[in-house]
Amino acid sequence: MKPMILRIVTVGALLASAPLFAAGGGALPYHYSPELGNEASLQRGAKLFMNYCSGCHGLEYLRYNRMAEDLEIPEDLLTENLIFTGAKPGEHINTAMPSEPASTWFGQAPPDLSLTARSRGPSWIYSYLLTFYVDESRPMGVNNLVLPGASMPNVLATLEGWKAMDHHDGESDGGHGGSHEPAFVEIEPGELDEAEFRAAVGDLTNFLAYAAEPGKRDRHALGFKVIGYLIVLFILSWLLKREYWKDVH
Ligand code: HEC
Repeated sequence: MKPMILRIVTVGALLASAPLFAAGGGALPYHYSPELGNEASLQRGAKLFMNYCSGCHGLEYLRYNRMAEDLEIPEDLLTENLIFTGAKPGEHINTAMPSEPASTWFGQAPPDLSLTARSRGPSWIYSYLLTFYVDESRPMGVNNLVLPGASMPNVLATLEGWKAMDHHDGESDGGHGGSHEPAFVEIEPGELDEAEFRAAVGDLTNFLAYAAEPGKRDRHALGFKVIGYLIVLFILSWLLKREYWKDVH
């Protein structure tokens, strides 16, 4: 009996540590763990996505009404504030951007972001959105720390403002107390301060993590119910076994 229990514990520990290895690829400057149960954050993320991203990027596997239902967004709010393309609520979240001229404008068509949170990971998206910096040598006037040479413009500049790499930071590397956060200098402030901007980017990343796996929230809820049921069943069977064997011993 014991080795079986040991084996279950070992397999459990391995499974639990798997995401750690998966995330251990390149060193990203920032970390973000999605909070799929935080509905307010997902709603804010959806609003930011529709306002700042959907002009170029689609979420082709997600339908508007599925999103509204999952995030408890009333249908009138959805059609008035979140659908900009004239699409019907039952349609997929496609971008209005035609992909052929887009590749000419940007050098590359903006990719669909349905699965990006799964392929790149939430921390990658979060880091990408936080590390646009002014670089006059680039066609869009900005470069990106996580995706060097990115052809996406600095679309959140009204919120964040503009920043540049701090090239004087070289000698004071130890001064950050061991943190690997990149050093930027602000050139022009935006509507949000740094903490507010990070929170907004967190909401956006959270929304993209939801969009990559809309069923995950339901599965979590169902998983807890199933485990609760199994625990109750286990206790009942154990009590029953004790009752049966009482007279034998
Ligand atoms: C003006 C058009 C435009 C807008 C608006 C825009 N993007 Fe992009 N985005 C691009 C282009 C073009 C690329 C391709 C960059 C490259 O690979 O060089 C890109 C790439 C990306 C990628 C990397 C995808 C990958 O796997 O390589 C992410 C993530 C992303 N955008 C997120 C966003 C988010 C979030 C917003 C809204 C805040 C947004 N984008 C708004 C044009 C845009």
